[in-house]
Amino acid sequence: MNIQWYPGHMTKAKRMMEENVKLVDVVIEMLDARVPLSSRNPEVLKIAKNKPRIVILNKIDLADEEMTRRWAKFLKDEGAAVVLVNARDGKGMNNVMTAAKEVCKEKIQRNLARGIINKPIRAMVVGIPNVGKSTFINKLVGKASAKTGNKPGVTKGKQWIKVKKDFELLDTPGLLWPRFEDQRVGIALALIGSIKEELLDRRELAFKMIDLMRTHYKAQFLQKYKVEDIENKDLMEILEEITRQRHLVKTGNEPDTDRMSIVLLDEFRNGKYGKITIDIFDEIEVN
Ligand code: G4P
Repeated sequence: MNIQWYPGHMTKAKRMMEENVKLVDVVIEMLDARVPLSSRNPEVLKIAKNKPRIVILNKIDLADEEMTRRWAKFLKDEGAAVVLVNARDGKGMNNVMTAAKEVCKEKIQRNLARGIINKPIRAMVVGIPNVGKSTFINKLVGKASAKTGNKPGVTKGKQWIKVKKDFELLDTPGLLWPRFEDQRVGIALALIGSIKEELLDRRELAFKMIDLMRTHYKAQFLQKYKVEDIENKDLMEILEEITRQRHLVKTGNEPDTDRMSIVLLDEFRNGKYGKITIDIFDEIEVN
């Protein structure tokens, strides 16, 4: 899903989240494990500042495991419970409920002390487009879910989905905008196909990708394309060389590097190079 964000949309989205966050006990912030920092909107921390938070690092099937481990530690040190999941196949989903109970421990105990038993924990999912919010909610809820509220005769209000008898989820995720102002973030999100790449030059993206691969994932790259002395070549040289290897030529036997850039980005997004993280832990200044 690609949304054109305008200042009006952002204000509206923020206001909605501020309203909804008052209704929940815990905020579930979803990030893409390949770009944990770039897929984050810092507004979440402000809006959810007084609430327990669970950070979901989603799409772990596509991300570098060691990097995911390091990002998870960083996010945990920041004060959130962190759960690694593949929302598509369900891996790690069982840990979400445990984390919710853990971060809401004090509230549950307070309720118990007041004789309130089994009051459901209420949560909402937030994140920028494409991090997997809908996939996650569907997986968590499964088919057997029952919606509460908005039944005939019941006051119109928020839709809560009963996940377990003691856990309810707001059915619509809080949608936030990506951080467009930071060019590094724009490139990272375009590389994973999360924002419209027309906004950026495809060749530039291919260069970024090749550079990332030769610096951090050389073996994976070289498994697919044989490039001698890759460190010492410039990016255009590498692009031309692999274009020829793919036999993508224009009239006059010129390498069609534009087509190759598209092929390269497609392969990358489809996981053809294995598990790759774009936000390299030590290289990014965390703000
Ligand atoms: P959103 O609500 O946050 O916008 O994201 P959504 O759930 O629509 O997911 C965006 C894309 O990411 C979907 O792919 C979805 O299948 C995929 N996805 C979600 N979680 C995971 C995961 O853990 N691993 C992987 N590999 N992919 C994940 P799509 O191509 O847009 O749709 P489709 O191919 O599923 O039909």
